Amino acid sequence: MFLTPGTKNSVTAADGSGRAVVITVMMLPRAGAQRGQEVRWTKIECHRSTTLCRTLPGSGTTGSARAYREFLTRTVRYLTKDVGIRQFIDIGTGLPTADNTHEIAQRIAPTSRIVYVDNDPIVLAHARALLTSVPQGVTDYVDADVRDPDNIIQAAAKVLDFSRPIAIILSGVLGHVADDEDPHSIVRRLLDSLPAGSYLILQDGTTLNQASAEALRFYNRSGAVPYHLRQPEAITRFFDGLDLLKPGIVPIQSWRPETVPADAGDLNGFGGVGQKI
Ligand SMILES: C[S@@+](CC[C@H](N)C(=O)[O-])C[C@H]1O[C@@H](n2cnc3c(N)ncnc32)[C@H](O)[C@@H]1O
Repeated sequence: MFLTPGTKNSVTAADGSGRAVVITVMMLPRAGAQRGQEVRWTKIECHRSTTLCRTLPGSGTTGSARAYREFLTRTVRYLTKDVGIRQFIDIGTGLPTADNTHEIAQRIAPTSRIVYVDNDPIVLAHARALLTSVPQGVTDYVDADVRDPDNIIQAAAKVLDFSRPIAIILSGVLGHVADDEDPHSIVRRLLDSLPAGSYLILQDGTTLNQASAEALRFYNRSGAVPYHLRQPEAITRFFDGLDLLKPGIVPIQSWRPETVPADAGDLNGFGGVGQKI
């Protein structure tokens, strides 16, 4: 199951007596947080608690959502601050929330340029309205499918300089691409278009946690766009040919953690950062 702040957070699931109910899972920033501020996520509301909420492991929805968002924050911050990356393509943007990619990057380097890509018109409408750049930088929005990497590259090239390093972010989107659609060749094509010195940030759900896999079966039966969990090895193969930053492709809460997450052992996300050499 992949629930992140501000993403599609309504799902249909069965309640304790087998009735289908719609629930909403919402991750909320700490009270008083301002737009543009760095946010420490503190609370998740799971409305109309059902089997799905109870099925998700340990901290379940809360821990998972927090871990995914914090991985994005740590990796984008690292590449902006310590490596000097100023261009990002964030594919599978999700509904705007706090601490979106451009906010993390532009807080450090206001001239950062971010292209957001999604195939959901609702996501894009919200992104255009809310994911707005500071004056020194750029945010752009592309209506495209991750399964059409050439289209994404062509559109991104209108605002990004493909002769300079770019970081591609694939956060929780490749689970929407089935194995028979060859997600590994999609990543290869995207990376082929980038100059040496560019980066891949990628995180996705794995099959490691049985309760989480069970919850996902509910989700996939609900009529939502299906999500495919993968073995950690399949996630690692997305980075083939790249130089992996330490600690490699790991449970996302273990990638240069700044805090010790509660119930970390129950989470199912794997990810990492690799550099094209
Ligand atoms: C689980 S959300 C992840 C959101 C965000 N990246 C994050 O990590 O919080 C998946 C996002 O990918 C988008 N998406 C799903 N299938 C897609 C596709 N084939 N092409 C582009 N975007 C897609 C969805 O609309 C949604 O916004």
